[in-house]
Amino acid sequence: MNLFNVYPRFDIALVKAKGCYVFDADNEKYLDLYGGHGVISVGHNHPVHVNAISKQLNAISFYSNSVDIPIQEKYAEKLSKVSGYADYNLFLCNSGAEANENALKLASFHTKKSKVIAFKNGFHGRTSAALNVTDNAKISAPLNKKGADTLFVEMNDTKGLQKAFETEDICAAIIEGVQGVGGLDEPTPQFLNMLRNLCDEYKVVLILDEIQSGFLRTGKFFAHQASEIKADIISMAKGMGNGFPMGGILIHPKIKASYGLLGTTFGGNYLACAAGCAVLDILSEENIAENVQNLDTWIRKELKSIPQIKKVKGRGLMLGIEFDFPIKELRTKLLYDSKIFTGASMNPNLLRILPPLTVTQADLSLFIQALKQQLL
Ligand SMILES: Cc1ncc(COP(=O)(O)O)c(C=O)c1O
Repeated sequence: MNLFNVYPRFDIALVKAKGCYVFDADNEKYLDLYGGHGVISVGHNHPVHVNAISKQLNAISFYSNSVDIPIQEKYAEKLSKVSGYADYNLFLCNSGAEANENALKLASFHTKKSKVIAFKNGFHGRTSAALNVTDNAKISAPLNKKGADTLFVEMNDTKGLQKAFETEDICAAIIEGVQGVGGLDEPTPQFLNMLRNLCDEYKVVLILDEIQSGFLRTGKFFAHQASEIKADIISMAKGMGNGFPMGGILIHPKIKASYGLLGTTFGGNYLACAAGCAVLDILSEENIAENVQNLDTWIRKELKSIPQIKKVKGRGLMLGIEFDFPIKELRTKLLYDSKIFTGASMNPNLLRILPPLTVTQADLSLFIQALKQQLL
């Protein structure tokens, strides 16, 4: 049987990993500054993470959400202490797209409206068709019945935003804390404020997609916390499980739950919660926020000494390094010659880095040296 060929891949097969490094079958060592699409938050194979999952696996690995699963409450308790959203409710699922799918559906249920405001170059996942082929009107929100109807606004375009809100039937506005795949653009605090006020005025649910930018990736627990606003729903995934598939949404208490409104077989399973608890413990115990902030300052200074760099976008350890030429060849050379994984984005001139948040200055120095060498 062949694999369904949807991914352009590097011809590298990884067999083990430790911290910020991954290894192929020949024991070739690569510095991982991409974390498999920004997933690795606390480092590959962190012993606390591995032990937590192994211990859980030996106790019980799965039962469905038809029984009490106390480790879900344990996870919610830990998240309430660090997220800045202690009074919100938590719904657990398995991936980023699923988190957003649930967030949008919930916004549509709550407002009984169906259109969505989103932003140019935004990326929120690839699902949505499943419910259209499910024969159960009770679990189909207005948004699903009509099909997605989205108004795309240019990031930080205040006039465009105002105009979009004047459209009838808007249930939600969805925005990334910092855009990932789109190329590291982000809303200004003033724009986020305006978005929050318009959502209040027009009774629209504000969804902050923190799937890539959350869990201290930018130095704040959620990227939007660099501004004063609060979201109604926050979607999470990627760094949440450090490689164990896990997603979730934080939900404002004004949005009420009812049996059957949302649901999932695997969401909130014992292993994911064990992985998630370990991630939260490591993030606090290893002073990760401080490491991210320090390295952000340090790397920006270092990158200034490279004349080919036009601009550094993003925040914390979610950075886009913009050149005045396409980075495809540079990225390939960094991987095959310098043995460093980096990422790309929709902007062909932007090299993206999303290292494990446990990366050190010494690791990043290797990257700076390699970059200088490749650009000679
Ligand atoms: C901001 C954002 N939202 C949603 C998603 C979708 O997540 P997943 O691939 O887990 O479905 C991604 C994935 O890259 C993302 O970066």
